[in-house]
Amino acid sequence: MQSSVLSRFSHPLAWSPPGHILTHHLSTPPNHPSLTFRRRLQPVSAVASPPTPRLRRQMTHSMPPEKIEVFKSLESWASQWVLPLLKPVDQCWQPQDFLPDPTLPFDAFTDEVRTLRERTAGLPDEYFVVLVGDMITEDALPTYQTMINTLDGVRDETGASLCPWAVWTRSWTAEEKRHGDLLRTFLYLSGRVDMLMVEKTVQYLIGSGMDPGTENNPYLGFVYTSFQERATFISHGNTARLAKESGDPVLARICGTIASDEKRHENAYARIVEKLLEVDPSGAMIAISDMMRKKITMPAHLMYDGRDPKLFEHFSAVAQRLGVYTADDYADILEFLIGRWRLEKLEELNAEGRRAQDFVCGLAPRIRKLQERADERARKMEPHGASFSWIFNKEVALL
Ligand SMILES: [Fe+2]
Ligand SMILES: [Fe+2]
Repeated sequence: MQSSVLSRFSHPLAWSPPGHILTHHLSTPPNHPSLTFRRRLQPVSAVASPPTPRLRRQMTHSMPPEKIEVFKSLESWASQWVLPLLKPVDQCWQPQDFLPDPTLPFDAFTDEVRTLRERTAGLPDEYFVVLVGDMITEDALPTYQTMINTLDGVRDETGASLCPWAVWTRSWTAEEKRHGDLLRTFLYLSGRVDMLMVEKTVQYLIGSGMDPGTENNPYLGFVYTSFQERATFISHGNTARLAKESGDPVLARICGTIASDEKRHENAYARIVEKLLEVDPSGAMIAISDMMRKKITMPAHLMYDGRDPKLFEHFSAVAQRLGVYTADDYADILEFLIGRWRLEKLEELNAEGRRAQDFVCGLAPRIRKLQERADERARKMEPHGASFSWIFNKEVALL
């Protein structure tokens, strides 16, 4: 199952009860079962949302300060090779290009909404679970811009910095903003989802943030974003395919158009890592290995709707079952990046770099083997489902 490979937070300890924080149990190790019990049943003091997740050990500023120079020295390269991968605003699509036109006379506008609803009628509820999860992931964009601006040497120091790294991050954010806006408005008009619960989930998620383990380190940060942009390219591509198969060509075009943005962004981030491999092969190779050891956590891994403490795990299971984003995709992305960055052929590595290379280049088959075993175990389990507040508490099969 996807979550077994991708999520570090699928364990019941991942969440404390909603609206509560924990007291410190200094004598109890963090994974001790009694703490689980206390967390779930004996909340001590109430605070405002969001709930407190269990995060990995937080490390900061792991890049040696002298390596900031690497990113300074690459500024003109970034202007020449990264910024052109942005699209000028007047050549970009906007959400309104795909949505009913509110400036039409009222009857014509409502006709367009009716047509939109007729087209979505063929899409099953489980599809909407995945589309909502994707939309919520996109809508937590403030978190991702924050994350990139934690990275030493490339952050936007002023909010309007002319440094090409900062220009990229702001313009990337501006392009990404259209994804959540478009999906959100589409879902609102479809009438198929409980927007109030969707909106609460977004608020919880942005309040919780994310824990990608990038340690203010742009080497780690750009490996993470390379992987993640490809993951979103794959998942939006699959929701496009499913929409087409279910008779909604407009939604297919929406998801496909978003996917093509993700591909362009993936290309930019992968190009940055490729350059780092050229100027600092061991440093970059070790960073790739470090991120893969930690596992790439999905950006919305802390999602919560105020009701289901395993919401992300359940959403991931539905995405896996529908083939929108699967453990196989995770291994495929890794193999793709190994090929894209020619990691197997990388030379001039120090001893640690070579160890990192061996680990990363042998990882995909190991992930697949683990997944086969997990699939086998899953086949022996009784089919079961989960209800999702996003679709009015209807139950959807997970297995
Ligand atoms: Fe996106
Ligand atoms: Fe993206």
